[in-house]
Amino acid sequence: MSDGKVIAVVGATGTQGGGLARAILDDPEEGFTVRALTRNPDSDAAHALAERGADVVQADLDDQASLATAFAGAHGVFGVTNYWEVFSVQREQAQAANIARASVEAGVHHVIWSTLEDTRKWIPLHDDRMPTLAENYKVPHFDGKGEADGLFAEAGAPTTYLATAFFWESLFGMVARGDDGVLALTLPMGEARLPGIAGEDVGRTAYGVFERGDELIGSRVAIAGEHLRVFEMVATLSEVLGEEVRYQDVPPEVFRSFGFPGADDIGNMFQFKHDFEDDYVGARDLDVVRSLNPELQSFEDWARANKDRFGV
Ligand SMILES: NC(=O)c1ccc[n+]([C@@H]2O[C@H](COP(=O)([O-])OP(=O)(O)OC[C@H]3O[C@@H](n4cnc5c(N)ncnc54)[C@H](OP(=O)(O)O)[C@@H]3O)[C@@H](O)[C@H]2O)c1
Repeated sequence: MSDGKVIAVVGATGTQGGGLARAILDDPEEGFTVRALTRNPDSDAAHALAERGADVVQADLDDQASLATAFAGAHGVFGVTNYWEVFSVQREQAQAANIARASVEAGVHHVIWSTLEDTRKWIPLHDDRMPTLAENYKVPHFDGKGEADGLFAEAGAPTTYLATAFFWESLFGMVARGDDGVLALTLPMGEARLPGIAGEDVGRTAYGVFERGDELIGSRVAIAGEHLRVFEMVATLSEVLGEEVRYQDVPPEVFRSFGFPGADDIGNMFQFKHDFEDDYVGARDLDVVRSLNPELQSFEDWARANKDRFGV
C-alpha cells in the first residue's frame, strides 16, 4: 500500500509530464503521488491535475530556487525542457542544469531526465552532408539535450537518461491535403524505419522506470512504441482515416527549406535518423519498453484512438 513517495513532475501540464502524472494518478495502490510543477497553476491543464489529486505547485525552469522548493521532500523528479518554446540550446541547457542542481539540493533519490541523442557523436560539425546550425550543432533540439546529460552527472544527480522518440502527435500538423485534394505526409525518410511513440507512453514508460526503484539509476533507457517505415504509417492512416494518405518522400534539403521555424533543425533530425537508422533504431529495444510499460500503444491503436485529432 501507499508509502506516499512524491514524484515532482516538470511539464506535468504537457505531453510527457502529463503522461507520467496520469500514470501515477491512475495507479494509487503503487504508492507514488504527484507534485505537478507549472508556471501557471490557474491553467485548465493544472486544474484538471488538481481535480484528480495532484499537488499543483508553481515553479519555473529558469529559476533554480523555485525548483529546489518544489522538489523538497520528493522521492523522484521527472525533468523535461521545451526547446520549441525557447529556441535556444543555451537556455535549454541552463534549465537542465537548474533541474539537476535543484534535485541534488533537495536530496531527491531518483531523477529521470528526458533527453535525446547528441547527433554530433555520429556526424561531427565538419561533416558537410548536413548544415551546421547555431554555430555548434547539427540538430540543436537533440544535441543540446544530449550534451546536457553531462550536467546531471556533473551535479551528482542520481539520474536515468530517458531518450525519447518522434511523438506520433506531431503528425497532426503534418498530414495535409495537397493541391490535388489528396492527403499527404511529407517526410525525408526514404524507406528507413522511424521510431515513434504516443506522447502519453513517454510518461507511462517513465513511470515504469520509477517503479523499478534504483535499478535504472545511471542507465540510459531509449524508447519507442514502434519502428515503422513511413509507407507503413500512411497505409495505417489511410485505413483509419478512410481515405488515401500518400507518402511524399522529399530529400532532406527540400524539407530544410520549408521555412517554418525550426525546419532546418527538424530536416537535419530526420536525415540523422535516416542516415544512422541502425544505431538509432537499435538503441530502442521495444521489449525493454514493453517491460516498463505493458500498455505501450501500437501506431494503429494510437491512430484509431486519435483519428479525430487529424482535423482533415
Ligand atoms: N514532439 C516530438 O515529436 C518530440 C519528440 C521527442 C522529444 N520532444 C521534446 O519534447 C520537449 C517538450 O516536451 P512535451 O512535448 O512534453 O511538452 P509540451 O507538451 O510542449 O509542454 C511543455 C511543458 O513544459 C512546461 N514548461 C515549459 N517551460 C517551462 C518553464 N520555464 N518552467 C516550468 N515549466 C515549463 C510547460 O508547463 P507550463 O506551461 O504549465 O508552465 C508544459 O507542461 C521538447 O524539448 C522537444 O524537443 C518532442
